Amino acid sequence: MHINPYIFILPRSPDQIVWDYKNHKQFELNLEYSIRLAHLIDNPEKFDDSNIIDTQFLSAGILATSTKETIEWGWDELSKIFHIGTKNIPCEYIPQDINEWSRHYLGHCIDVLATPAPEDRRTERPTSERIDLPHPSCLPESALATTLTGRKTCRTFTGKMVSLEEVGTLLYLSLGYLRERENDVDETIVEGLGARRSSPSGGGLNACEGFLHVQNVCGLEPGLYAYHPTDHALSFVNPLPDSPLGQLLCGQHFINNLPVGLFITARFDKLWWKYEHSRAYRMAYVEAGHISQTFQLVATALGLSTWLTGALADDQVESLLGIEESSEQPLFFVGCGQSDGQVMCTELKALLNSRGSQQ
Ligand SMILES: Cc1cc2nc3c(=O)[nH]c(=O)nc-3n(C[C@H](O)[C@H](O)[C@H](O)COP(=O)(O)O)c2cc1C
Repeated sequence: MHINPYIFILPRSPDQIVWDYKNHKQFELNLEYSIRLAHLIDNPEKFDDSNIIDTQFLSAGILATSTKETIEWGWDELSKIFHIGTKNIPCEYIPQDINEWSRHYLGHCIDVLATPAPEDRRTERPTSERIDLPHPSCLPESALATTLTGRKTCRTFTGKMVSLEEVGTLLYLSLGYLRERENDVDETIVEGLGARRSSPSGGGLNACEGFLHVQNVCGLEPGLYAYHPTDHALSFVNPLPDSPLGQLLCGQHFINNLPVGLFITARFDKLWWKYEHSRAYRMAYVEAGHISQTFQLVATALGLSTWLTGALADDQVESLLGIEESSEQPLFFVGCGQSDGQVMCTELKALLNSRGSQQ
């Protein structure tokens, strides 16, 4: 007999909470059950199938008859608990098409709005106590300012083909190792850590990587591709799955015809290699956020509209990217294409209009 390797125990007097963080289950154990579990942790071979507590532990998955395969993690327990504990969160309901998504999303918004809004920030002050800052009287005529003000999340894409030049520009400027920075390497930088991107990177490790999701790019077969930042090149990983893109992104079907997207992953083993503490786990997400924003700004500058999400069907995405059970994990998705600039899909708008006309 074995103890499930994905549990931790939280004391909450008078009980102990046994938390199976992989399967998102929690059990409250009273003293009798806690003592019995302590004995079994000490020696799982003491399992006794005539003991009702032992059999309950087994059926609850706290005990297992075989050793469960543990993920190659490369980091400490706290980061593992958080990351795996927030993965594959069971969705009560995954919409199967755009109309279902619209109804479900609208219902959710109505429920949220029916609850009181969070209170003002503690630092909120009346207008009379605020110091007004000057508004920029005229924005500098730089492309950057225009790009920054032009970025917007859109949710209706035409599906129109994106060119390979656009994809090359997007990847080089958001994830590529910049040739322009090659001669600007300080002698204090350790060999092997000299590569630089347009986005800052925790410890200069470039722990984030990218996989391109191609549906309609000129010159590329549809599929998933790994991006290689040193060579500024792609390699084919997998064909597209049969299910639409929205299914991989927790039912957000309005995005099904997005021509191109980027899954941003993080190499946890690389971060842990330099920073042996859980706090560095936060940096993986911060870095992914920088890359995502840069991708969106480059896309906007190219005249493309953008969309982004952290709602991933983790296991499915990992398999598609060929990184299942590894210390490289997908964190975020950002994509772009031609759009009519709508913030919401037609189906949701129609639903809202029909509700409006009923009232
Ligand atoms: C971390 C993060 C996660 C997001 N996830 C989603 C998502 O799952 N689906 C979606 O349609 N938009 C998502 N968005 C986009 C936000 O809804 C959008 O940024 C927000 O409404 C503000 O609009 P704007 O981007 O046009 O300024 C996400 C944005 C961020 C920063």
